[in-house]
Amino acid sequence: MINRPIIALDFPSRVEIETFLSLFPTKEKLFLKVGMEIFYQEGPEIVRWLRSLGHDVFLDLKLHDIPNTVSRAMERIANLGVAITNVHAAGGIEMMAAAKAGLVKGTPEGQTIPQLIAVTQLTSTSEEQMQHDQLITVSLEESVLNYAKCTQAAGLDGVVCSALEAGKIHSVTSDTFMCLTPGIRPTGAAVGDQKRVVTPVLAKEIGSNAIVVGRPVTQAENPYEAYQAIKNEWNGVK
Ligand code: C5P
Repeated sequence: MINRPIIALDFPSRVEIETFLSLFPTKEKLFLKVGMEIFYQEGPEIVRWLRSLGHDVFLDLKLHDIPNTVSRAMERIANLGVAITNVHAAGGIEMMAAAKAGLVKGTPEGQTIPQLIAVTQLTSTSEEQMQHDQLITVSLEESVLNYAKCTQAAGLDGVVCSALEAGKIHSVTSDTFMCLTPGIRPTGAAVGDQKRVVTPVLAKEIGSNAIVVGRPVTQAENPYEAYQAIKNEWNGVK
């Protein structure tokens, strides 16, 4: 289990991230999610910079390409010292295994191999869209569970999923398979565009192993206080 909520750094550039991080005590080491928006703006240097400040990074780039390309990209990612990164399970077991092999190969001697997780069906995809666009005839849940099993078969560490799916995913994989869950809202918070949200307490009860929180922290009047409150709720601290 990852004790710190992972904060989604959904900002357009490094300047906004500097302002945001200045609101936290320097000794508070955070777990930060770097996504496509900021990565494509600032490049890998943004990850090196966050690492130099002592923060852990989940690099959320959702790779999906032929196995050889994904493997070689993962070799480069492994060099950045991230704690977690990810791929699309839709790339297939061979692609996921190649991604893992690339990470292993690219991790410098003496450093920890980043955890590798997979996105199953995007939470923005409805069952109707999945059946129409992907010609998958089973239910969305069955497809998610199948992708989770493929992810495990490829030797990965877990999946990104809705907290509401975590229990079932554990039952078809294992208790130690990581369910990293976005769509988290502390009790009474604005939901934004997330449709199926759960509180940190409920997420834990259902089986989340890590939570990703964006706007409830980044848009809060006092981000540090909001972060502490969510962290305490997640860790069962009263
Ligand atoms: O602001 P909010 O807490 O909704 O942000 C959640 C973060 O998790 C965003 O960076 C969003 O892109 C990401 N995410 C998600 N649902 C997924 C995968 C990623 O909300 N299935």
